[in-house]
Order: sequence, then structure tokens, then C-alpha cells
Amino acid sequence: MQIRVRGGEPTGIAADVLIVPVAAGQEDGRDVRRLARRLGGTMVKRAISAARFRGRPGQAAVLPVQGPRRQAIAVVGLGDEARIDLEAWRRVGGQSRQLAGTLGAARVVVACGARPLETPQLVAFAEGFELAAYRFAKYKSESDAPPAVTELTLVVVSPPAEKILETEWRALATTLSGVTLARDLVNEPPAVKTPAYIADVAKKVGQAAGLEVEVWDAKRIASEKLAALIAVARGSSEEPRFVHLRYRSKSTQRRIALVGKGITFDSGGLSLKPAKSMETMKCDMAGAAAVLGAMTALARLKPAIDVDGYIPITENLPGGRAQKPGDVIRYRNGKTVEVLNTDAEGRLVLADALLVAADAKPDAIIDLATLTGACMVALGTQVAGLFANDQKLADRLLAAGTDTGEPLWQMPLVAEYKDDIKSAVADIKNIGGGHAGSITAALFLQEFVGSTPWVHLDIAGPAFLEKALPYTPKGGTGFGVRTLVRYLTTLAA
Ligand code: BES
Ligand code: MN
Ligand code: ZN
Repeated sequence: MQIRVRGGEPTGIAADVLIVPVAAGQEDGRDVRRLARRLGGTMVKRAISAARFRGRPGQAAVLPVQGPRRQAIAVVGLGDEARIDLEAWRRVGGQSRQLAGTLGAARVVVACGARPLETPQLVAFAEGFELAAYRFAKYKSESDAPPAVTELTLVVVSPPAEKILETEWRALATTLSGVTLARDLVNEPPAVKTPAYIADVAKKVGQAAGLEVEVWDAKRIASEKLAALIAVARGSSEEPRFVHLRYRSKSTQRRIALVGKGITFDSGGLSLKPAKSMETMKCDMAGAAAVLGAMTALARLKPAIDVDGYIPITENLPGGRAQKPGDVIRYRNGKTVEVLNTDAEGRLVLADALLVAADAKPDAIIDLATLTGACMVALGTQVAGLFANDQKLADRLLAAGTDTGEPLWQMPLVAEYKDDIKSAVADIKNIGGGHAGSITAALFLQEFVGSTPWVHLDIAGPAFLEKALPYTPKGGTGFGVRTLVRYLTTLAA
């Protein structure tokens, strides 16, 4: 898709649809009046009021009038003028893409009106526009993907320098390809995306982007004493994998470790989930997918920072050799864990990876995991839980999340609740007391990071959507990729 920014008269540009973003209460404002004049009369105003369009966020209407070049005319709501932030532009971008899809429009013109728009807003619009176009169509005989948009033209009062916009847009497109990779992997059926498959993709895509990729097979996993990965994988006939991605820049003092939960299907194991809860459990490797997506983007953006990605990958199935409630895992550092619920498998395998990550003495560890249903209960599907043992690191990630429109909400690591993971037979157990499930899961992970600054993101809610958002289609969302890239590139800057 070609993106252009132009000044001048939007109705004069050849297009299939002309989209007019309108702020709340401005349905009869300057921009709309101007458009109405261009289109010759009261028709536009009448159409807008017939649609009860008020410029509220999420509102959109295709007007029953055509422009002078026979283009369709549509309005989308921007919300309160005082609160039109980058996220508002992303959402309007996403809605515009949806409108273009419905209309089958290949050439889209957006009349941004009289407000002075800078590069960040224009890029945000394009970002939402692109993110909303995603479809996972490879198993559809007839694709339900919206027809391709070939040209997107944003009409503004004073266009920014083409060079700046182009550089920004290219960087964004790189990040978005990481999001697409993550979405594709999450959406892939579990029979296809076995641990070996994910490791192969990581190797291929990672190396193509310029990462060093090391894949540990079952034998190496055993010699490295990744005891939990072995224990969880015992219920499955698929062998586990452990992937280490390495991004090295020329000169830097800083090294960050990323860890992603890679359960390619979570049946719960012998502590079997009910059928309904299993329907979306192919999403349980979304943390791994986010780490891979972010790191492939990073290798192309080349910020001055070193990053290691660690991904433990296995299925969690109840096969004949599956681990059982009551089993004890002895970790590579000697710590023991009593497994009382095999469905709390994420924290088990993450602990292996956190130990490997901490051994390399990074400046910080960030893990992403679809870890607990409890976090979904607390924060829903649009916000991820953030836990941290270091407030400075937490603040940086919270800021990156806000900047990218991937909201994170800090939850407390309540030290008193450590009592809930005490075990009668081992050092700790893998479930809490029933309350505060996302906190006890995070407290469990904390046991394995030592004094390394660490952030844990529980992305169980936003990793996978059963209902689309303005720029996020149903299914795998790629949540975390944009936040990680933002955090790592601003850290390097
Ligand atoms: N993968 C699940 C968490 C999950 C639930 C992710 C819903 C996405 C959507 C995790 O492995 C799990 O099963 N957690 C259990 C923990 C419990 C057994 C302590 C849960 O949340 O019920
Ligand atoms: Mn589970
Ligand atoms: Zn799980």
C-alpha cells in the first residue's frame, strides 16, 4: 500500500472513498460545512443528522451522497477534540480501514480537516489502518479478507517533510511485520504449530532478520536441566524445544532479556480443563510469539541495545506419562516445586527460562505470558497485568504501553501472599490459595529471578480476542510486540 500526505482540496483527488474524521459535536462544524459546500448543498448535513452521527469515538457512517469524482463519502468519530491522542488516531485509522473494506474501496482519501496534524498523528492513523487490515485466511476456501487498499492519501493543511514521514513509516512497517508474525503464529492451529514447528519458524524468520538463533532439542534440554519443561512435555508425544534468540548491536552497555511462554496447546494436563475453556488454548504461546515478533523487528531496526530472547516451548497434554498432581520438580538451581495442579504449567516452564535468563546476568528481565484466567477476570481483554520488582523498570514499560495503545496496569506483588504458595513437601507449590490468582502466579515467578530487575506481563486477556476492536481483528492480537519494540528502542535512544 502506498501512503501519501498532501495539502489542498480532498474532494479533488481521485478515490473510491473520501473519509472525514469528525470530532464530537462538530458534525455541523467547520470541516463538515466546508465539505458540504464542496458537494453542493444541504444533502451532506441532512445525511449526517439522519445517521444520528455525533462524532463520538467508534461512530461511523457512510453517507448516501457521492462526491464530484463519484467517490463514496464517510464520516468517522474522533471523540472530544481535547482528548484526541495518538490512540484516537489509531482507532479512527482502524475504522477507516474497516469502512474501506465494507465499501470495497482500493483508493482511500482522508480529509483530516483544519487541525494541524504532525507526523506522529499521521503515522498513528496509518498504524491503525494497517493493523485493522489483518486477516488469518489461510484455511478459508473463500477469503473474508477485505479487498486490498492500494493508495491511502491523507490530506492535511501543512504536510510534513516527505523524508521524515517516510522514515517513520518504514520503521513502523517493520514493527507491524513483527505484529503480523505474532498474530499468525497464535492463530495457527495447534496440530500445525508443534514445538518443533515454532522452533523452526523462529530459526528461519529470526536468522532472516539477522538474529542468532539457538534451538535446544529434548536431549540438550535434559543436559541443561530444564526440569519443568521436561515434566510438562511428558504428557505429550511432541518433543519440547527451547529457543534462544540473540540480538547484538555494535556498542552498548545494556542487555535486556525477554522470556515468552510457549505452550502450543494447553489442555490443562491431568488437571484437565473443561472443553469450553480449551477452545482458545492454542493462544497459550502468545508470549513466545510476542518475543519472536519483537525481536525480528528489532534486528531490522538495529537500536543500540543487546537483547536475548528465551522461549520454552511444549504442549500441555494428559498423556500416559504425564506429570501428576503431587509430583515434585527439582529445578537446575536446586529449588523444588510441588505440582498440585498440572494446569498451572506456564509458571513451571517460565521458571526454567527465568533461571537461564538470570544466569546470563542481564540488566533486566521482561517476561510475557498468557498466565492466568484470574488476570482476565481482573482486567478483561483490553489490559494486561504488570508485576515488577523494580519500579523504574515498571514505569518504563507502563509508559511504552501507553504510547503504543497496549494498556498495562500494575498489580501488587503482595509479599504476605507468599504464604499461599508454601508447600508441605517441597520449597513451594505451583498454585495459590484460590484468591488473587494472578498475584500468586507472579509471586511464584519472582522466586526464580533473584535480584535481577524484572517485569512480568500477564497477557492472558489481550493476547486473543473473541470480539474485534477498532484496529484489532478477532483471534491472535500480537499484543506486546509494539510495547516491547517501543521500550527497547527508547531505552537505546
Ligand atoms: N493458559 C492458562 C491461562 C489462560 C486462561 C490464558 C485463559 C488465556 C486465557 C494457564 O496455564 C492456566 O491454566 N492457568 C490456570 C491456573 C490455575 C490452575 C492456578 C487458571 O488461570 O485457571
Ligand atoms: Mn494451564
Ligand atoms: Zn497455560
